[in-house]
This record gives sequence, structure tokens and C-alpha cells, in this order.
Amino acid sequence: MAQPCPAARTGLDVRVLEPAEAGREVAGEIAALVRASSRAGRSCVLGFATGRTPLGVYSELARIQREERLAFDHVTAVNLDELLGLAPLDPRSFRAWMRARLFDALGIPPERALIPPCDLDQCDAESWCSSFEQRLARLGGIDLQLLGLGRNGHIGFNEPGSGRQTRTRRVELAAGTRADATAEWGGTEGVPTHAITLGVATILEARALRCLAFGERKRAIVRRVLEGPVGPDVPGTFLREHPDAKLYLDPAAF
Ligand code: F6R
Repeated sequence: MAQPCPAARTGLDVRVLEPAEAGREVAGEIAALVRASSRAGRSCVLGFATGRTPLGVYSELARIQREERLAFDHVTAVNLDELLGLAPLDPRSFRAWMRARLFDALGIPPERALIPPCDLDQCDAESWCSSFEQRLARLGGIDLQLLGLGRNGHIGFNEPGSGRQTRTRRVELAAGTRADATAEWGGTEGVPTHAITLGVATILEARALRCLAFGERKRAIVRRVLEGPVGPDVPGTFLREHPDAKLYLDPAAF
């Protein structure tokens, strides 16, 4: 049961729920959007994130697809980011991660999943990013973007210092972001140094933003997102400028 949140002095709608309940609520909203667009004969563009936080949303979406036969055949998936410097079929790429955790279960084929290739060099990355922005505009923009929150306040890989006007681009990962990923990469040296991320402006253009942050380790940055000055030092604060943004926290992160 959602608790009304006394900290909702910001433009963000804050909801404090256990992670499983938050996962069900967000997945239910996504499913409703998919059904409504299907009934209206419209396509639907959903923005996804990798990481630990959205796993509950993904398992619930897979359950809804399986048990309620929800069709995703008019859905285009967009991913927030992808690591660079990997071989095309590297199983640690976000593309492979999304396929294994969500896209195969929902029946979303590779041609309807807009994720940057993980083997682009700097020059190809720049041209991929500008054609991606054009393609997104032709699709009519993102209907709902799911987000996690980095411990340094990043959204996507818009690390501290990323401004309100940034668009999809190649970025260098912050040291803390790489340190947080060492377990999967067998030490800091193995962690990719660069990535492609949707920009802050690109994210804020989505019609709805649903950000999730769970656990004690997110509590300090959540305070800054809710109460600190809005600006590039903590890119997550830009969520407060969006007309339809919800932040799902569990009691430990709140
Ligand atoms: C992942 C992404 C990141 C994560 C964030 C939180 O695609 O864009 O911003 O959402 O780092 O990661 P977790 O959920 O693992 O705590």
C-alpha cells in the first residue's frame, strides 16, 4: 500500500513501497500503456534500464505476458545506455542482458530494440547517436522511460556534470560507477571506460518517467535528489522538472 510521502515538496511524486510491490505497480502501468496503445491502433515506445533495480518490474512484465497473453508486437524498446569497447556478441553487453532478462520473454525481436552496438569506435558512436535521436523523433518519442539511480546521482550514464540540455552521446564512466561494477568484470581494470547514454534532455522528453531506487546504499543520494539544488552535480535532480515523474523508493532508501 503506497504511503503518501511528506517529502513530496518537489515536483516528483515519491512512493515508498517494498521493491516487489513497486515492481508490480510499475509493470502494471506499463502493461496498461501497452494495452491502451494496442486498442488505439498506435505503436508504443518503452524505455528500459539495466541494473539490479528494475529486475522486479521485468519479472512481473514477463509474468503478465505469459499469464495474460499480453502482446508486445506494436512495442519498440529503447535502452538507456550501452557499454562500449566490447565484442559485438559479448554476453556482458546490455543488449545481451536485456534479451536474457526481458526481450526474449516479451517477444521483442532485435529489430524492435534500439540499443547502441557495444563495439562502436568514437566516430561511429557519434553518428549512431545523432541518427538515434532522429529515429526516436520519427517514432514519436518515448511513452514511458524506466530509470534507476546511480549512487552518484546519475540517470542513464549521465554522470555528475551532465547538463539539462545533453543529448544521446558517448560518455566516460565515472570512477565510482566503474567501481560499483567490478564484481561483474573481475576487477576495476576490466570494467569498460566508456558508454553511450541517452542525454538528460532526451530522457526528460519521455512522456512519463518512472525511477526506482532501493536499499540503504541509495539513501544519501535520494536525499540530494529530493532536497538538493536542481542541477548537473546530481543529474537525478532534473527529474523534479518533469511533469509526470514518479520516484519509487523502498523504506531503506527513503
Ligand atoms: C543502467 C543505468 C544506470 C542504473 C543505475 C542504478 O542501464 O542506466 O543508470 O540504472 O546505475 O543501477 P542499479 O539498479 O544496479 O543500482
